[in-house]
Amino acid sequence: MAYNLLEGKRGVIFGALNPDSIAWKIAEKAVEEGAAITLTNTEVALRMGETKKLADRFNTEVIAADATNTDDLNNLLTRSMEVLGGQIDFILHSIGMSPNVRKGRHYSDLDYKGLDKTLNISAISFHKVLQCARKLDAINEWGSVVALSYVAAQRTFYGYNDMADAKALLESIARSFGYIYGRERNVRINTISQSPTKTTAGSGVRGFDRLLDFSERMSPLGNASAEECADYCITLFSDLTRKVTMQNLFHDGGFSSMGMSLRALTQYEKGLDGEYETDQPDDHKYD
Ligand SMILES: NC(=O)c1ccc[n+]([C@@H]2O[C@H](COP(=O)([O-])OP(=O)(O)OC[C@H]3O[C@@H](n4cnc5c(N)ncnc54)[C@H](O)[C@@H]3O)[C@@H](O)[C@H]2O)c1
Repeated sequence: MAYNLLEGKRGVIFGALNPDSIAWKIAEKAVEEGAAITLTNTEVALRMGETKKLADRFNTEVIAADATNTDDLNNLLTRSMEVLGGQIDFILHSIGMSPNVRKGRHYSDLDYKGLDKTLNISAISFHKVLQCARKLDAINEWGSVVALSYVAAQRTFYGYNDMADAKALLESIARSFGYIYGRERNVRINTISQSPTKTTAGSGVRGFDRLLDFSERMSPLGNASAEECADYCITLFSDLTRKVTMQNLFHDGGFSSMGMSLRALTQYEKGLDGEYETDQPDDHKYD
């Protein structure tokens, strides 16, 4: 059911790779709620993924941009204002990638070029989007910018690797830039810390299925789905949340406030003496 919460608003959505992407669901909901949007992703993602299909459905434009490249970002924002007919009211940053996670590098043996890429793509790109937008005065007064994060920014999740450091930086950028953009233009900047969700990026994390199951058992309301994340995100883009800024907002069924649940404890007891399979000998040192 739609409430027209974004009627007349213009948005730019990063990261809708395929129908599993969280950004895909957010784009669908944003249009359902009355927004006009442009979609963006890297050249490679546009070739390999399905972003174009989604844009065709909405009769809108896909503008290629590598979020680490400020020329691309300037072009994206300028073109989006042309296509949409004015300043932008909301931006979704839904971008994550770690070469170290992809290559299975252990956190105590990181490839530092890989770490640079992880931080640049998954966190510093958020700063770049905001800095480019501010210099172009691309965001409307009372606009809203949201990036997606994960609880590994605050607590250690074995296997999340250097993405944890990227998420901590991402959340810090939301606070630091939130102050500046808030004072100057009443633009609000927040991160949503989402439950584990089965997507292309999510599934790259080691032991993802077990993490999903553990998180489901620990959360009183269960894991939050991508669709539910989209619902929450729409409220942050809407005028109903104009004084919410510089926050990391947990959207995780209560997971982040739990210590141990009965459901997780029961499962833990069943497997107490069981061995687990791993292809990484290092795992047994940290179990
Ligand atoms: N899936 C989860 O479990 C989960 C949980 C919490 C937070 N998140 C976060 O949600 C966001 C979206 O991820 P997702 O799970 O929907 O996976 P996804 O793989 O569908 O989306 C990741 C997107 O990042 C894009 N991307 C990568 N490098 C880029 C670059 N240089 N420039 C522009 N775009 C680039 C990819 O093309 C892709 O569209 C990420 O920030 C992720 O960390 C995911």
